[in-house]
Amino acid sequence: MKILCKLGWLVSLILAGVIAYGAYVVMVPGHTAPSSDGRTAVLLAEGERDKVLGEMRFLLETVQAISENLAAGNVEAVPALARAAGMAAAAGESPAMMAKLPLEFKTLGLGTHQAFDDLADMAATDPEPLEVLATMSQTMLNCTACHAGYRLAVEDSTQ
Ligand code: HEC
Repeated sequence: MKILCKLGWLVSLILAGVIAYGAYVVMVPGHTAPSSDGRTAVLLAEGERDKVLGEMRFLLETVQAISENLAAGNVEAVPALARAAGMAAAAGESPAMMAKLPLEFKTLGLGTHQAFDDLADMAATDPEPLEVLATMSQTMLNCTACHAGYRLAVEDSTQ
């Protein structure tokens, strides 16, 4: 009886290890390869890459529009612009693509969307334009950090 009990624990321990390892393999490195410029290439299907780059261009349009409004003193235009780049913008991502993104990439990406929601909230409290600009420039450290570490490449469809 005692030995069976020990065996049960051992099996549970091994299973927990296998599950933890599986979760690590799936979640942490994502689907990546080294790239020629020293960054990590995230390997995506062509359509997935196009979609991510489209989202990126939208982020750039967002920070452009917010800067323009802040320079003109139009803080009241900021909440709606920032909200459109918030967590709601990340809602439709396919689980298959999410699984290919390294954990750090997902954390930075979702952190950026959350930061736009936070920016929308703070801009709605009628702050000085320069305060909003300072907060947005902090958010943009996520853009530069991620671009410094990652690029996108199209995966080999035979993989
Ligand atoms: C989680 C990572 C990550 C974050 C955060 C991020 N980007 Fe990107 N972005 C990328 C990657 C990867 C590429 C592709 C770069 C490459 O392949 O050389 C890219 C490409 C772009 C491009 C080029 C789009 C195209 O059509 O080629 C723009 C513009 C851009 N990002 C803007 C932004 C802005 C603005 C922010 C912040 C508000 C931002 N990105 C935040 C990862 C990120």
